[in-house]
Amino acid sequence: MDERAIGVFDSGVGGLTVVKEIIEQLPNEEIIYFGDTARVPYGSKSKETVTKYSKQIIRFLLTKNIKAIIIACNTASSNSLEEVKKTFDIPIIGVVEPGAVMAYKSTKNNRIGIIGTEATIRSNSYPNAIKKYNKDIETFSLACPLFVPLAEEGWTNNDVAYLVAKKYLEPFKEKDIDTLVLGCTHYPLLKDVIQEIVGDKVSLINPAKEAAKKLKELLILKNQLRVKDNPKHRFYVSDDTTKFEQIASIALKKFIPSAQKIDIEKY
Ligand code: DGL
Repeated sequence: MDERAIGVFDSGVGGLTVVKEIIEQLPNEEIIYFGDTARVPYGSKSKETVTKYSKQIIRFLLTKNIKAIIIACNTASSNSLEEVKKTFDIPIIGVVEPGAVMAYKSTKNNRIGIIGTEATIRSNSYPNAIKKYNKDIETFSLACPLFVPLAEEGWTNNDVAYLVAKKYLEPFKEKDIDTLVLGCTHYPLLKDVIQEIVGDKVSLINPAKEAAKKLKELLILKNQLRVKDNPKHRFYVSDDTTKFEQIASIALKKFIPSAQKIDIEKY
């Protein structure tokens, strides 16, 4: 057993969809969350910039007595996981590999759609990871950048969200996919409209579920599960805390202790 916390980070609020999964699968674990609300979005930034941000955040998390890190952000996982794994001596789990595992297991017709930010799609991280398991799978990738501000605004299930999703996803219908990877932390928040447009026959993949499972397996393997109950999660952001706290309370369906603003550029 190991009472230390799990560090989780994202470019903003989206990573809370990963926190939700960790809380469900590992209810005793304590979470230290960092949301880079001052520098979001990462999806339009270069690999170098995203890697620099990831390193700063990991240096910050390492000041908090943690035993493992989950990079909840697909953009950061796609663009910086390899580099940060080489740099830091702590287990680091990204969301792309877990999402790829779920997707290849889910498809029956070997046709998978992938949606994510521009930087995630440009990196080709999901097609590469999926083809490692089955090279016969065909993938169809599409960046859907407007989904992020919609989710941040809380517009996840209204007419605007529906129209935007329809415009992006309608062309997927011709591709005859049976599986769609929600390759961005924010997209699970829009899953109802996405499902409505792609239809019930398409399975939506939320990589967060498998990432939390992978974390659980790691902690069991290393005999590092936290045994005490009543964990005290802590939330940190790089910009104003008020909006983050509001969205966090909705996303996690519970009151969260107040978030703390920190100067991430110092790390
Ligand atoms: N968290 C990012 C991701 O999962 C989406 C938001 C952004 O562009 O920063 O890719």
